[in-house]
Amino acid sequence: MKQKFPFSKDIDLAFKNDPPGLWMSAVPKGCIRLNSGYPEPALVPSKGIKEAVGRLLDEEQDLPLHYIGSPRIPALKKFIQQRMLKREAEISEEELLVTSGACQAIDLISRILLDGEAVVAIESPTYMEALEVFRNYTEHFMSVPTDANGLDTGRFEQMLADRKEQGRTLPRVLYTIPTFQNPTGTTMTPERREHVLKLAEQYDFLILEDDAYGELGFEEKPRLLKAMDANNRVLYVGSLSKVVAPGMRIGWVAGAEKLVTAMKWFKKDLDHPFAQATMASYIEGIDFDGHIKELTDAYRRKSSTMIAALKKFLPPTVSWYVPEGGYFVWVNVPGADTAKMLPQAYAAGVAYVPGRYFFLNQEEGTEFLRLSFSYANEQQIVKGIELLGQVIAANVEQKVE
Ligand SMILES: Cc1ncc(COP(=O)(O)O)c(C=O)c1O
Repeated sequence: MKQKFPFSKDIDLAFKNDPPGLWMSAVPKGCIRLNSGYPEPALVPSKGIKEAVGRLLDEEQDLPLHYIGSPRIPALKKFIQQRMLKREAEISEEELLVTSGACQAIDLISRILLDGEAVVAIESPTYMEALEVFRNYTEHFMSVPTDANGLDTGRFEQMLADRKEQGRTLPRVLYTIPTFQNPTGTTMTPERREHVLKLAEQYDFLILEDDAYGELGFEEKPRLLKAMDANNRVLYVGSLSKVVAPGMRIGWVAGAEKLVTAMKWFKKDLDHPFAQATMASYIEGIDFDGHIKELTDAYRRKSSTMIAALKKFLPPTVSWYVPEGGYFVWVNVPGADTAKMLPQAYAAGVAYVPGRYFFLNQEEGTEFLRLSFSYANEQQIVKGIELLGQVIAANVEQKVE
């Protein structure tokens, strides 16, 4: 007998979509992972974290293991406030909520702002996991084109004006990754930042600024939208996943107190107090600016290595954006179907993420792929790009015949 469960009607919306995580197909053993948006294993401070756990338990015994957690936890919040202040965003305690990763923050924002009628404006392409979260709450999206300078705010303005004229629902929120975007690696210009904030005023929407890679600028870090946000339009989401350790799931959201309070209602105590206490203990023992410098030096080098290898090994029709920070290079392969090509890349020994997964309409993006220079070491990067070059050459040639 088929068992029936009393699901909420909202589940139908979620189940309309593909299962989560399809972009992360099982990578064959031994493949060079240019698909993974993870930090390089050697750059994850496991020794520092081990010492932090030791210090925590030596000094506090069982305290960090209780619901209520360690007295060190408030220091984590202070640290986040200081990091944001360094980037010109002054956030009060009430405007800040520490979450289990940026993804929980995105989910909480969706919970308090979205329902079946809401429209979400997204960059096209965008971070696929955020898209999955939004799609659990609504099926109405505005997919806004991007270029080498991030979100195309001119096109966005036109799209908003058209929608308004047609009497269609305007977006409640814009989701943007303005700095070192996932998947394109691009960064929104200062002019576009100003423009998008103006549009938010004019068309009355909120901006979810996802800054997961914002600390990882090779030269400079652009001004945060949150730092330019005179009217509390921006909900800023941050994360320590890319700069400390993703498995600790430490993220946060900073925004108008009323919104943050609403999120607290839903989050309850669904935290990881031990992870928060460990992070607090870790940061008290290090020079965080020095740590960030070490990371940006390494990722700058790895990015250059990848770009040089792309120039050397990829056919001349292939192009890419050169990132100024973050983890990713977005590659355009005219004439290829990058999803169909993936099994060949696996067989050759290299992994990437097909572009289609970053689009709302997965018919798009077939000629693109996302490479990450973060996880693999430099030797692997060069080898991986050489292998990719061979796979692409074979595919594009086949297509021409
Ligand atoms: C743009 C973006 N936001 C958020 C996240 C996830 O952050 P967290 O691990 O803090 O949930 C990622 C990770 O890939 C990301 O690329």
